Amino acid sequence: MLDVQSITKSYTKNPILHNLSFSVMPGEIIGLVGENGAGKSTLLRILATIDKPDNGSISLNNLSYESNRKKVRKTIGYVPQDIAVWEELTVKENMHFFERLSSEAKNDDQLKELCLEMNLEKWNESVKNLSGGMKRKLNIAITLIHNPKLLLLDEPTVGIDLKSKKEIGSYLWKQAKEQKRIIMYTSHDMDEINELCDKVICIGKDSFYEEILSTSGKEIISI
Ligand SMILES: Nc1ncnc2c1ncn2[C@@H]1O[C@H](COP(=O)(O)OP(=O)(O)OP(=O)(O)O)[C@@H](O)[C@H]1O
Ligand SMILES: [Mg+2]
Repeated sequence: MLDVQSITKSYTKNPILHNLSFSVMPGEIIGLVGENGAGKSTLLRILATIDKPDNGSISLNNLSYESNRKKVRKTIGYVPQDIAVWEELTVKENMHFFERLSSEAKNDDQLKELCLEMNLEKWNESVKNLSGGMKRKLNIAITLIHNPKLLLLDEPTVGIDLKSKKEIGSYLWKQAKEQKRIIMYTSHDMDEINELCDKVICIGKDSFYEEILSTSGKEIISI
């Protein structure tokens, strides 16, 4: 379980995240919505252990972020808003590069399988020749090499075609439901959020998003 208790984060004197508490069970998909600058990426960076909250506490499967930072980090996968893969290397070379950095060993077949599950078939293609959607898929496949329990994705489906969007969506759904991973991701696509998420966190006390989601029947955490 991911347990977030009363976290606060400010860069200036106006807090971005103020006294935020929520918990997520294994297998749940949480959508994070809010206008530009609301603090979605900030929250994901904090949950990814890249940034720290000013106050409050976070734990993942009973491991506290404060006292077990390194251990907890090994169980988290994070795909940032900007794609982070090696453009000059092939898909295969990227997967092997990141496998060597990973805490979990995977062989060539297993790495290829991770890509195929995402319908990313261009194993020997240079990444620079891939479309944005394919690079996104590669970035997600890389993040799954170490078998994370918590998967954090910052706008994984932005700017990609509907088919790839659906493929990524159903892949994430399978990852949550079959592998019991916790998935938290941001998106500005409310149809997608409605289709995929078990709960939605609205950042910024913005009634606009609450109204859009009010008929969805989903649990909405508004902060
Ligand atoms: N390292 C930083 N230093 C100072 N201010 C920051 C920093 N990172 C983010 N901010 C500010 O915090 C606020 C929240 O930013 P964040 O990137 O979390 O928003 P977001 O909800 O992800 O927006 P978007 O939808 O545009 O991606 C913004 O006002 C941003 O300028
Ligand atoms: Mg952002």
